[in-house]
Amino acid sequence: MGSSALVIKVSNWPPVKGLVRKSFLFKGLVRRFIAGDTLDEALITAEDLASRGFGVSLDYLGENTSTADEANQAKATYIDMLERIASSSCASKTNISIKLTQCGLDIGRDFCVATLKEVLSRADQLGLFVRVDMEGSRYTEQTVDILAEVFEEHKNTGTVLQTYLYRTPKDVERLVGLGMRLRLVKGAYLEPTSVAYPKKADVDQSYRDLSQKLLDSGIYHGLATHDESIIAFVKDYVQKKGIDKSKAFEFQMLYGIRRDLQESLLKEGYNVRVYLPYGDQWYPYFTRRLAERPANVFFILKSLFKG
Ligand code: FDA
Repeated sequence: MGSSALVIKVSNWPPVKGLVRKSFLFKGLVRRFIAGDTLDEALITAEDLASRGFGVSLDYLGENTSTADEANQAKATYIDMLERIASSSCASKTNISIKLTQCGLDIGRDFCVATLKEVLSRADQLGLFVRVDMEGSRYTEQTVDILAEVFEEHKNTGTVLQTYLYRTPKDVERLVGLGMRLRLVKGAYLEPTSVAYPKKADVDQSYRDLSQKLLDSGIYHGLATHDESIIAFVKDYVQKKGIDKSKAFEFQMLYGIRRDLQESLLKEGYNVRVYLPYGDQWYPYFTRRLAERPANVFFILKSLFKG
């Protein structure tokens, strides 16, 4: 088992979950990645980022909803986010990222599509963009299909494709063919080798290949990574092809990760969007960030052994 897989397994162990959730010990570490518990707190950070020239994608943390009430609650929150963004000073630089499992995908496809369409209609009225995050591979097919369907009516949306999945080149072809804006990521979930490359080198190579396809498409996409070698590759490609770095695409990075790189890319004239999560359901998001950097887990284990 790789260290990332181990981190995800251990972090789902109830005593570890309880400790990390309750202990003040982790507050600083959590706050490094999460803007706060409330929309008010998140908007303060979003406005600050936007005033410094960054784009922002606001993410209300939470994943699978299992009842219509929960999904409706998530929908109300998404609409509230859109309305609050529209009347804030960061409106022109901010969009939202949402999850189909929060919109009730586990309850049923039709229910989820209806919820999503309500959110997209409100975003349309307000002139805002909605990004649908990509979740674990059991949702990939449905997410791609649903996005293709709603895109016919709502051009203010796009989704995320993960380069660790073998299927992604076909999904890129399909969605770019529709004219959809995509965010390209390596992928953050624990996936079996039947669907995803187990080796980082293959995931990275796929990222390079697909980023070229996106850059060649003439559509404004997001290249989301903190990987300096991939960023250097993209910069080089853009320069060689004479692609306008200030208009044609954006780099995207997570709040709290490689702030130095975020700043330097902005200074060099690239568009940089920061993915800014908030909310009290931060645990799964937080553990995925730990799994990407297992060294952070050292602190958790140390405190467990101290009792
Ligand atoms: P990689 O993991 O190779 O890291 C490259 C370097 O970045 C590391 O060497 C380190 O310096 C730094 N770094 C990366 N992660 C770190 C961490 N947690 N702590 C400290 N340093 C770290 N995934 C998904 O499945 N669905 C989605 O919808 C999204 N959405 C999304 C939006 C945005 C804006 C970003 C940037 C990422 C996502 N992801 C995602 C997560 C993505 O799939 C991936 O897990 C992370 O971006 C880490 O991969 P990198 O490309 O940064 O490379």
